[in-house]
Amino acid sequence: MQVQNVGGAAVATASGADSGGDSGVDDDYDQENDAHHVIQPQTDTEEASTDTDEGYADSDASSFLSSILSEVRRGIEIEGRLYPSYGKHDYGMPIDEKEMDRNDLQHHKYHLLLKDRLFVAPIPDDQLNTGNSRILDLGTGTGIWAMDMADKYPSAQIVGVDIAATQPPFVPPNCTFEIEDVEEDWPYRNAHFDFIHGRDLMTAVRDWPRLLAQAYTCLKPGGWIQLCSTIPGALSDDASIPANSGYVESGRLYFEIAEKMGAPLDAPRNWATQMHAAGFTNVQDEVHKLPMGPWPRSKRLRTVGRMEQIMILDGGFEAYMLRGYTQVLGGRPEDLQATLTHAKREVRDPSIHTYVQYWITYAMKPFEK
Ligand SMILES: C[S@@+](CC[C@H](N)C(=O)[O-])C[C@H]1O[C@@H](n2cnc3c(N)ncnc32)[C@H](O)[C@@H]1O
Repeated sequence: MQVQNVGGAAVATASGADSGGDSGVDDDYDQENDAHHVIQPQTDTEEASTDTDEGYADSDASSFLSSILSEVRRGIEIEGRLYPSYGKHDYGMPIDEKEMDRNDLQHHKYHLLLKDRLFVAPIPDDQLNTGNSRILDLGTGTGIWAMDMADKYPSAQIVGVDIAATQPPFVPPNCTFEIEDVEEDWPYRNAHFDFIHGRDLMTAVRDWPRLLAQAYTCLKPGGWIQLCSTIPGALSDDASIPANSGYVESGRLYFEIAEKMGAPLDAPRNWATQMHAAGFTNVQDEVHKLPMGPWPRSKRLRTVGRMEQIMILDGGFEAYMLRGYTQVLGGRPEDLQATLTHAKREVRDPSIHTYVQYWITYAMKPFEK
């Protein structure tokens, strides 16, 4: 099944030619961490987890679909933030308006960091702009990257997938959004896409080798994958991080949360090895310094640093850590706030010059194997 997000509302579609969906896609999914869904018990989910597409009478199928659609739309509220209720595993970050604003700010920040490029993989423009070009954006969020790609490559078809229906109603005609869990079996045909992109999927993906194997299968020979993510450990080249740093401590807690969720934050360091193992060629890491605050000399990086600082001070820390701190580590929100208050003081301090790594790994599926 695919649930297509049309006009901001998720609607069901048959696996379609556009997305290259195979027929008979597995509909069942299991909410492995159901116990965490404490705010709204997921009775629909339990029902869904025991059923499959096979043997469904039409009326059963439509009630199954409505239960999935209502689940996708409902979300789970934790400590005043909304989290997705659809998907095999719990995702650590919210999907509410505030998070959508943060995602859009992140997009502009990364665009500037990459000198106005939407990706760095050396993909020839004409490969992405034939009437046959297809691009997949994993965990598309607000769909801002997918829509910018659709504008830049008007002959390509862009598909953005996410477990949450957080994409806008008005989109370029060559851009569609679908509700899919990228950790499940992908519903796309073999050798279908020219480019598969995934950005900032922290605490979203547990099994990168499986994701890469599916990407390999779904890419055309000569097609490219690019994964990108911040690795949120504070670094400094001038030893300006104070002893007993609250910022470092908040990073340590975030790493601990993600590790316990089974989605370690340093996963990007393994992408290149995993891409080689999956059969990709032309594998390349590109690691950028993403400054915190307007301390760099370069005007461009000063702006990037200011955006990073605003993002973090305006709820970024909480977006990353609140669910995990309370539900995974069992901590109290007020204790997290105490650490974050300390961390935010350092983030504002112009004498502290930190950065995090923005990790990009790209690779190509070989023409012949
Ligand atoms: C931090 S946001 C990044 C959004 C977008 N990639 C960007 O860079 O603007 C991560 C997104 O991944 C989505 N997500 C999390 N787990 C997912 C999964 N298993 N399958 C598909 N999307 C997922 C979330 O709902 C969220 O929209």
